[in-house]
Amino acid sequence: MKLLIFVCLVVSANAQAPKPCNSPPQWESRELRTDYEQKYQEYRRISYDETNKRERQIAEVDIGGDKASYDRLILYNENKNYTLNLKTRNCTVTTINRPFHYRGVHPNARFDGFFELGAIGVPGEFVAVQAFSANETNDFYTGLVTYPSCYPVQNLHFSKTYGFEHSDYFDLHIGITDLNVFVPPSECSKAEQRQKILPVV
Ligand SMILES: *[C@@H]1O[C@H](CO)[C@@H](O)[C@H](O)[C@H]1NC(C)=O
Ligand SMILES: *[C@@H]1O[C@H](CO)[C@@H](O)[C@H](O)[C@H]1NC(C)=O
Ligand SMILES: *[C@@H]1O[C@H](CO)[C@@H](O)[C@H](O)[C@H]1NC(C)=O
Repeated sequence: MKLLIFVCLVVSANAQAPKPCNSPPQWESRELRTDYEQKYQEYRRISYDETNKRERQIAEVDIGGDKASYDRLILYNENKNYTLNLKTRNCTVTTINRPFHYRGVHPNARFDGFFELGAIGVPGEFVAVQAFSANETNDFYTGLVTYPSCYPVQNLHFSKTYGFEHSDYFDLHIGITDLNVFVPPSECSKAEQRQKILPVV
């Protein structure tokens, strides 16, 4: 009898091991990013587009009390990385230096667990989440998403190059309000033009 119950438990545990859920591909939210290696934190507003592999970030950076603001546009498919310093209005245009990060569940992720954040059983005071993890290119990540709709809550990344990075997401909205967020700011288009007409040495 004990064995039967054990077998039933194992079978039901296997049957329930959830596949990676599908996070919404386009959304906007606030993000608190902590980079333990670089010892800095920044608040960002992000527009995330997984379908077209692009991201806009308006960031307030605090490095040891030194505050700065940046407007970043990262177009992975075009290999373009625009960083506009919002204080100096100086824009730098470079190529991408790291692969696209899925902020939702990675397509090849492994299910790690199911639990609730907040106070269980108190109406309106808890949210059900699932934990997933995956090995990406040179990078291990583990993340939390809401259950059942798979909205991002938290991501942790560990890599040799970038160390330990931590993202928390707040006030998430599905969809992109204004697709113009993926058009480079005028300072950046100008900087790009200048770079293009620089003579090749
Ligand atoms: C803009 O930033 C780049 C890279 O940091 C620097 O080389 C350049 O001098 C800056 N330009 C201005 C106008 O501040
Ligand atoms: C984009 O450029 C910024 C500033 O140079 C850099 O910190 C960041 O890592 C770059 N991001 C990507 C994805 O290349
Ligand atoms: C990632 O790779 C490590 C080392 O190869 C392995 O132990 C771990 O199980 C992998 N994780 C996932 C989620 O595939």
